[in-house]
Amino acid sequence: MTNQTLLTRSLQSVWHPCTQMKQHESYPLIPIKRGDGVWLYDAEGTRYLDAVSSWWVNLFGHNNPRIKDAIKLQLDTLEHVMLAGFTHEPVVELSEKLAKLTGLGHAFYASDGASATEIALKMSFHYWRNSGKPHKTKFISLQNSYHGETLGALGVTDVAIFKDTYAPLLMQSAQMPSPDFRLSEAGEGAEAFALRCADALAFYVSEHHAELAAFIIEPLIQCAAGMGMYHPTYLRRAREICSQYDVHLIADEIAVGFGRTGTMFACEQANLSEGQNSLNLVSDIADFICLSKGITGGYLPLSAVLTTDKVYQAFYDDSTLKGFLHSHSYTGNPLACSAALATLAIFESDNVIETNRDKAAYLNAKMQVLANLPIKNIRHQGMILAFDVQTDDSKTTHAKFSRDCYSAALKQGLLLRPIGNTVYFMPPYTITEPEIDLMMHATLQAIQHSL
Ligand SMILES: Cc1ncc(COP(=O)(O)O)c(C=O)c1O
Repeated sequence: MTNQTLLTRSLQSVWHPCTQMKQHESYPLIPIKRGDGVWLYDAEGTRYLDAVSSWWVNLFGHNNPRIKDAIKLQLDTLEHVMLAGFTHEPVVELSEKLAKLTGLGHAFYASDGASATEIALKMSFHYWRNSGKPHKTKFISLQNSYHGETLGALGVTDVAIFKDTYAPLLMQSAQMPSPDFRLSEAGEGAEAFALRCADALAFYVSEHHAELAAFIIEPLIQCAAGMGMYHPTYLRRAREICSQYDVHLIADEIAVGFGRTGTMFACEQANLSEGQNSLNLVSDIADFICLSKGITGGYLPLSAVLTTDKVYQAFYDDSTLKGFLHSHSYTGNPLACSAALATLAIFESDNVIETNRDKAAYLNAKMQVLANLPIKNIRHQGMILAFDVQTDDSKTTHAKFSRDCYSAALKQGLLLRPIGNTVYFMPPYTITEPEIDLMMHATLQAIQHSL
């Protein structure tokens, strides 16, 4: 099928996500036929470097032989069986491995990030009911947080463009000051700012803990807020505050899990402040972790929520109603689990976290290509690098910059997806140094054309 035919048919038959469809009158869809490594190709051979890992899911490149082969092998054995009343090897093996990596366990599966958020919120709420504290029903999250767009997840999300229209449908939640260091006072260090925000959290929780079930947080980076990064000490303080007041901490690592921030999970870095250099286990910080996106290397939809023995035990009872009766048809799909196992095997065999350190250093050094642009707030954490382009500070200007830069980058063979005036790179880990060079030069051109 030609590019043009595919575009026409898609616009007639598909309602694309996160899109005002009318805008496709001026910003055409991009038809993709195949992928290979960091590259996406259309039907006529035009290629685009996927600098955003296809919405932050891809870890080891498109058309990765190891993940592909694992799925094919699984396909010859068992494509799917329902997980209520049945089990299978890939789901057991994956659950054991995730438990070992996080220190949490009892993996509960779904297919998308937002479903994982729903599950963690429902589990926390239900835990308190089962534990004789039915008044603990409320949730808090950070200002500018993003946890997905189903109704429950949207209730703890704080991005106006996604949330405001649906406000009458949503549960109420309170937002705590964000430790995103772009919001700090001039001259205030990131750690001092994080501690100031944690004080505000402590104050709120001290006043409301009797009705609070959980605090849900994106560890280290608020990605959808424009890669808002914050000092890890905030996580440590959040844990202390939640423990002091008997409130769950839900770590939403849907975007940042699986190595993006430089450690397997972002929560591991909670102790990395001055004088404290040891890594944590996720279970030192969180009562629940939500995982998705990179979990299958970007191959198949899968998400998981892991929690503590204490939470699990509160559901283990003769009463059916005390059980967690939530379900999705494709829960624990064997093909998705086999993709996840292949992904974890690559982490184990290829020393990915270590190798990424050198790659991240190269990526940072290459920011010099953009040195003469009007940019600020250059920030990086592991394999994520972001900066803000100085445009005038209205939402309309940011939105226009974002669309123009996206289009200009495509013309340079680069898939960038700026969030407002924030340009970021979150490439597959397999990106090579020459590909990073290409990415930087194409970004330079794209930004110059959009200013
Ligand atoms: C932190 C976070 N939580 C939840 C989600 C929702 O995931 P999904 O789009 O798979 O529903 C996202 C998606 O970007 C995310 O970044």
